[in-house]
Amino acid sequence: MSVLSTACVRQKLREVEGACHEALLGRAPPAIPALVARDIEVREAKLHPPKEGLSTPLGRARLLHDMASIELQAMELALRGLQEYPDAPREFREELAALTLSEAGHLKLCLDTLEDLGHRWGDWPVHLSLWQAVSAEDSLLDRVLIVHRYLEASGLDAGDRLLRRLEGLGRPDGTQDVIELIHREEIGHVDFGSRWYRELCRAQRIDPDHDFPVRMGGLRQRLPYRTENLAVEIRLKAGFTMKEILEMEDWRLRSRREASSPSAFSRPAFPPNS
Ligand SMILES: [Fe+2]
Ligand SMILES: [Fe+2]
Repeated sequence: MSVLSTACVRQKLREVEGACHEALLGRAPPAIPALVARDIEVREAKLHPPKEGLSTPLGRARLLHDMASIELQAMELALRGLQEYPDAPREFREELAALTLSEAGHLKLCLDTLEDLGHRWGDWPVHLSLWQAVSAEDSLLDRVLIVHRYLEASGLDAGDRLLRRLEGLGRPDGTQDVIELIHREEIGHVDFGSRWYRELCRAQRIDPDHDFPVRMGGLRQRLPYRTENLAVEIRLKAGFTMKEILEMEDWRLRSRREASSPSAFSRPAFPPNS
């Protein structure tokens, strides 16, 4: 049984380090399941129950639960990348293995803090929107762009807004500490994507300035649409160029227009935890 097909979240955490090690050794990976297994209810994000405000203990517990679901998918997507791209540069794969374990640390932190607050994994449903944004047909450049420069970068925008909402609540529990730590480390994950996107382009003699909008445009229809304001300073720290940020801002405005059109509901909104 692989980490991706095991349903139990704590079992996944116990096995992920060994799975990274196996992948780095190039041992034949287990088949990638179409959908990752869960030990709790999976439901489309738009059908999740409404959220309480963050000033309430229930609202903060729900936030930690939603974050745990996102961190779990981030861990699984990173591991999937290690298993699906055995021919990627060695340094890339080693950094991706470290990133996988960093996501595992985020997941454990969310689960432990959720329990400290008197709640459990499974108290709410989860979605698989992030997992469903990738495809077995993705080139490595596609995957780096989707996972690390789109999904994780959108998480930076959401994290920035969340931290502003949590400020002023007086730290009634550990939620703010968890979000701050994750947000800090996620800047490194997105920077990993930015650096390697350019490096992989260079190796393939592709101009990244030309490629970025073209490739993003090609992936557009299957990515969750985003409406969150861009955290410009944080994206710059995470390796985005100003040109890329302006292109993403244009993407965001188009997403917002599409969100008000009747066909918008065929694509989930992102980030789902905002
Ligand atoms: Fe994370
Ligand atoms: Fe991450």
